[in-house]
Amino acid sequence: MPSGRSAGSLAGRSVALFGGSGFIGRRVAVELVARGASLRVASRSPRSPDQMRYRRGDAAGIDAILDGVDGVVHLIGILAPHGSDDFMAAHCDGPAAIAAAAQQRGIEDFVLISAIGADPASPAAYARSKAAGELAVRAACPAARILRPSIVVGPGDGFFGLFSRMARFSPLLPLIGGGHSKFQPVYVGDVAAAVAICLARPETRGGLYELGGPEVLDFRRLLEMMLRASHRRRWLVPMPWSVARLEARLFELLPRPLLTRDQLKMLQRDNVVAAGARGLGDLGIEPVPVDAVLREIFG
Ligand SMILES: NC(=O)c1ccc[n+]([C@@H]2O[C@H](COP(=O)([O-])OP(=O)(O)OC[C@H]3O[C@@H](n4cnc5c(N)ncnc54)[C@H](OP(=O)(O)O)[C@@H]3O)[C@@H](O)[C@H]2O)c1
Repeated sequence: MPSGRSAGSLAGRSVALFGGSGFIGRRVAVELVARGASLRVASRSPRSPDQMRYRRGDAAGIDAILDGVDGVVHLIGILAPHGSDDFMAAHCDGPAAIAAAAQQRGIEDFVLISAIGADPASPAAYARSKAAGELAVRAACPAARILRPSIVVGPGDGFFGLFSRMARFSPLLPLIGGGHSKFQPVYVGDVAAAVAICLARPETRGGLYELGGPEVLDFRRLLEMMLRASHRRRWLVPMPWSVARLEARLFELLPRPLLTRDQLKMLQRDNVVAAGARGLGDLGIEPVPVDAVLREIFG
C-alpha cells in the first residue's frame, strides 16, 4: 500500500533509530531507506550488520550510535513496567538523555514518538510519562518534533493482531468496558511517512502533530470490522470495567501482561486527535482508512 507520499527525500541523510526493531520502528526503517536515508538501528539484540547494541541508560552506546548521524528518531516504548524499565525511565529519562546528546552534537532533526493522551494530569502512568518525556525532550532539544499517534494499525500490530489471535481459539471476544472507547486508528505506513517528512522538512522543527486516521471508531466497531475482514463470526461480549480490572490484576502477575490496570485507565478516555491539533494533513499525508488496512492484514 502506498504511504504518505508527498515530497521528502532523505538522500544522503544518516538517521539513528532508537526502538527501530519494534512494530512501528521496522516500518519507519523501510520508509526512510525508500527515501534514500542510511540507517543506524539501535536494539537490545542486534540482528543484522546495520543494527547496534543499545539498552536504555547506556550513555556510551548513545555516543557511538549518534556518531556521524544527522537525524534521530526515538520509538522506544513499553506498555507495562518490566524490571528496571519503568514508564518514566522508558518514556522520559531515556529519550531526554538521547535528545541532550543529539543537541550537543548539533543534531536538530529529532523525532519523538509520544502518544495521544499524553497528559501530566492523566490517571494513567503511561500517559503521564509520555507527557513528561515530551517536556524533557523539548527542554533538551527545542527543535524536536513530537508525534502523538492514536492506536497504530497494520500487519504485525498489537490491536488487530491480539484480537485476531484470540479469535482463532475463542468463540467470544471481550468488549472491555462495553466496547464504547473511541479510537482514531492510524495506518503504520502513515506514521512512518510522518516521521520521514518531519526529518526532511526543516519547517516542521519544534512541531507537535497528533496522528489519527480518517475515522473515529469505537472498540466494538473495530472488532466487528476485524471479524468481517478475517471471515470469522464470534460473540462480542461486554465486559464491565470492574471485571476487566480484576482480570488485568491477574495478568499483571505475568512478566509480559496482555492487559494492565494502567491500560484500562487509558481505555476509559477517548483516543482521538484533539480539536485544532496539527496532524497528518499538515504533513501532506492523506490517511489510509481502516478497511484498507484490514485488507492488507487479512488479504
Ligand atoms: N503501537 C501503537 O499503537 C502505539 C500508539 C501510540 C504510541 N506508540 C508509541 O510508539 C513507540 C513504538 O511503539 P511500537 O508499537 O513499535 O512498540 P514495540 O513494537 O513494542 O517496540 C518497542 C521498541 O522499544 C525497544 N525497547 C524497549 N525497551 C527498551 C530498552 N530498555 N532499551 C532499548 N530499547 C528498548 C524495543 O527494542 P528491542 O529490539 O531491543 O526489544 C523495540 O524496538 C512507543 O514509544 C509507543 O509508546 C505506539
